[in-house]
Amino acid sequence: VSLRPYNTFGIAANARYFTAFTSREELSAAMEDNRVKYAPHMILGGGSNLLFTQDFPGMVLKNDIKGITLLREDNDYIYVRAGAGEQWHGFVQYCIAHNWAGLENLSLIPGNVGASPMQNIGAYGVEIKDSFFELEAWHIKDQALQTFSNAECDFGYRESIFKKAYRHQFVILSVTYRLSKQPHFNTSYGAIEEELKRMGVTELSIQAISQAVINIRSSKLPNPAEIGNAGSFFKNPTVDEAKYLALKAAFPGIVAFPLDNGHYKLAAGWLIEQCGLKGYRNGDAGVHARQALVLVNYGHAKGAEIYALSQQVLDAVVAKFGVLLEREVNII
Ligand code: FAD
Ligand code: EPU
Repeated sequence: VSLRPYNTFGIAANARYFTAFTSREELSAAMEDNRVKYAPHMILGGGSNLLFTQDFPGMVLKNDIKGITLLREDNDYIYVRAGAGEQWHGFVQYCIAHNWAGLENLSLIPGNVGASPMQNIGAYGVEIKDSFFELEAWHIKDQALQTFSNAECDFGYRESIFKKAYRHQFVILSVTYRLSKQPHFNTSYGAIEEELKRMGVTELSIQAISQAVINIRSSKLPNPAEIGNAGSFFKNPTVDEAKYLALKAAFPGIVAFPLDNGHYKLAAGWLIEQCGLKGYRNGDAGVHARQALVLVNYGHAKGAEIYALSQQVLDAVVAKFGVLLEREVNII
C-alpha cells in the first residue's frame, strides 16, 4: 500500500499492510490479527509529523475514530471530548464557533486530535497542555483502557510521556479539552499583535486571534498540498546562560528567549539561516525559503534524502555555533 497520500511530506514509501479503525472495538480486533501480532505495527494520524525513511515492513493502523461530544459544563468551563481521528483544525473551528476559548492560537495546525498530546502541540504562545483535561488510551499489550490526566501526560516543550517512557505502548482514542466560557486572550507572540493591527481589529475576540494566526501561518509555512513538509523539522534548542552569553558576544543578532530557569531558547530557524542554508536545495530535498526550520520535498525526494539533508543541517549548526539541534519530526 502506498503511504504517499498518508504523509504530508509526500514520501512515496509503502506499507506491507494497511488498515483503518473507527472504534476501540475495531482497534482491538485489528490487534488480534496475526499480521499485527507478529510483525511491526504503527499508529498513524494525519501523517503530518513523520518522515518515512524506508518502506514500513508491517501494519500501518490509521486512527479514524470520529466524534465530538460536549461532556459537561460548569460556570466557567466546557469539557469537550473529540475522537482521535477528528481533524485538529476542524475541532478548533468547532470550538471557536461555539465561543469556547483556549485553542484559537492553535488554529491551522495540521494533523488529528489524537496526536495533539503526543508532542503537546504548540504555536503562538499557547500549548495544548494549557487546556488539556484528559485522554483515553488503549494499552496495546494489556488490551486495556486507561485514562491520563494532564499531570500524568508529563507535558513539556514538544514532549509528553507518550514519546518517552510510554513510547509505542498506547493508542490514544480520544482527548478531552477544558475550554473557557470567558476568553483569556493570549497575544504575547509579537507577530499576532502586528497582524491584528494590520487587520484593523479594534475589539479582540477568539475569532480575530484565530484569523490572525491563520494569516501569519499562511504567509510563511508551506502548504503541504503544494510542497511536502512536516512543519518544523527541529526543535528550538535550549542553552545555559554561559553558552548564551558566549554566542551573543560572537553573534550579536542571535534570536533568543529567556526561560524561567535562567536558560535561553534559541530560534533554530535563525541558526540555520545564518549557516547559509535557507532556501538551499539538493535535488528535491530542501530547506524552505521562507522558514529555515522547515525541510521540504519539492516532489520526488526520498525520505532518506530528506533525512540526509537534516544531518547536513545538524552538522552545519554544530560547526558554526556548537549547538546540537534535535529532530522534532518522528523518523520512521
Ligand atoms: P502523525 O504524523 O500521524 O503522527 C505523529 C506521531 O504520533 C507518530 O509517531 C504516530 O505514530 C503517533 N500517533 C499519531 N496518532 C496517534 C494516536 N492516536 N495514538 C498513539 N500514537 C499516535 N506542530 C506543532 O506543535 N505546532 C505547529 O505550529 C505545527 N505546525 C505545522 C505546520 C505544518 C505545515 C505541518 C505539516 C506540521 C506542523 N506541525 C506543528 C506538526 C504536526 O502538525 C503536529 O505534530 C500534529 O499534531 C501531528 O498530527 P498527526 O495526526 O498528523 O500525527
Ligand atoms: N527565524 C529566522 N529565520 C528563519 C526562521 C525563523 O531568523 O528562517 C527567526 C526569526 O527571528 C523569528 C524567530 O526565528 O522571529 C521565530 O520564528 P517563528 O515565529 O517562525 O517560529 P519558530 O520558532 O521558527 C515555532 C514552532 C512552530 C510554531 C511557531 C509559532 C518549534 C520547533 N516550532 O517556530 O511550530 O508554529 O513557533 O509559535 O517550536 C512545528 O512544530 O511544526 C511548528 C511549525
